[in-house]
Amino acid sequence: MTDPIASERLELVWLSPELIGALLDGRRDELPFAVPDDWPDDHDRRFLAFRLRQTSDDPGRAPWLVRAIVLPGSREMIGHIGFHGPPGINARREAEAVEVGYTIFPPHRRQGYAGEAVRALLAWAREQGVTRFIASVSPQNEPSLRLVRRLGFQEVGCHWDDEDGEELEFELVSDAWT
Ligand SMILES: CC(C)(COP(=O)(O)OP(=O)(O)OC[C@H]1O[C@@H](n2cnc3c(N)ncnc32)[C@H](O)[C@@H]1OP(=O)(O)O)[C@@H](O)C(=O)NCCC(=O)NCCS
Repeated sequence: MTDPIASERLELVWLSPELIGALLDGRRDELPFAVPDDWPDDHDRRFLAFRLRQTSDDPGRAPWLVRAIVLPGSREMIGHIGFHGPPGINARREAEAVEVGYTIFPPHRRQGYAGEAVRALLAWAREQGVTRFIASVSPQNEPSLRLVRRLGFQEVGCHWDDEDGEELEFELVSDAWT
């Protein structure tokens, strides 16, 4: 479940507890990819530390969590993607659904990488038997709104997130791309 996921231009490399530890401690020579000098920033350090705690508390959820998005040729990390947890961990508390989150670092945006990475991760989840997907997106986040709508997600509600403010909830029920 933790093997790299390959798509046409990308590799999604699972961040094991060891790799997250190396990222947080700045042990870059232990990473199988190159990381931007300014990453992880404070926000993403908190994010990675949270994921590391979740992994220690419940190793079974680890394969669903964060992966580095890597360009296979240059081994450059250009972003990250993952689910909030295994089925059942999502903003709508739907028992069978997983919630996806993603970031592409600024120099690599607008090249279709986010769309490609989300498709690849959702295909992996379908191999695990998951067919319900959730995404929470700020109403101001035009790129992400475009992305989820293009993938076929439907708006189904909204909630307030203490860190991110108002978020629209999107859902996709799909066992194959149409
Ligand atoms: C959202 C994000 C991941 C998109 O990454 P990306 O690789 O640039 O996205 P893509 O190239 O796959 O483009 C996705 C869509 O957004 C559109 N888009 C990208 N940047 C845009 C911008 N600045 N303004 C408007 N639309 C934009 C693209 O045209 C594309 O739409 P289309 O398929 O209808 O043409 C990236 O902007 C990001 O990391 N943002 C910060 C983190 C974040 O918001 N994550 C999502 C939280 S829900």
